[in-house]
Amino acid sequence: MEVLIYPDPVLRRGGQPITEFGPALRETADRMIEAMYEEGGVGLAAPQVGIELKLLVLNPSGSKDDRSGERVLCNPKIVRKKGREFDEEGCLSFPGIQAEVERWVELTVAYLDLDGKEQTLKCEEAWLARIVQHEIDHLEGVFFTDRLTAAEKLRVKAKLLELEDEYKARA
Ligand code: CO
Repeated sequence: MEVLIYPDPVLRRGGQPITEFGPALRETADRMIEAMYEEGGVGLAAPQVGIELKLLVLNPSGSKDDRSGERVLCNPKIVRKKGREFDEEGCLSFPGIQAEVERWVELTVAYLDLDGKEQTLKCEEAWLARIVQHEIDHLEGVFFTDRLTAAEKLRVKAKLLELEDEYKARA
């Protein structure tokens, strides 16, 4: 599984709602979790690996040695949110870019698990809430760089252009 890098057009397409729950979906989620650890991420959305589904995986510890926070969310939807806060974010699809993004501090998310059962995830820690929002954005084809203030956008502009040049050179 390879993580697509900006500006790969697949990233903008986001994901379709998941309708089939079975071994194939579980296998995809397992492979995404492996890819997330391999790349050193704390979250990964299916469109980032070229799979156009509303599927995301996360682990706030980012560590294989602490998998207690590992989650797989299908068709996630934010149903409650509270508070706003800026903090630094990065993205596996935007190597070398870190920027301040304003996000909700607390969330409740409704989602389906890998069996297609309705679940809710309460995010009372800002870090977890931030990861979930970042990954849900990917499912809609939205990037963290879309949410920057004008000043932050300007600050990362050169780096974005660099990624665009590298993409063109690979194509
Ligand atoms: Co990302």
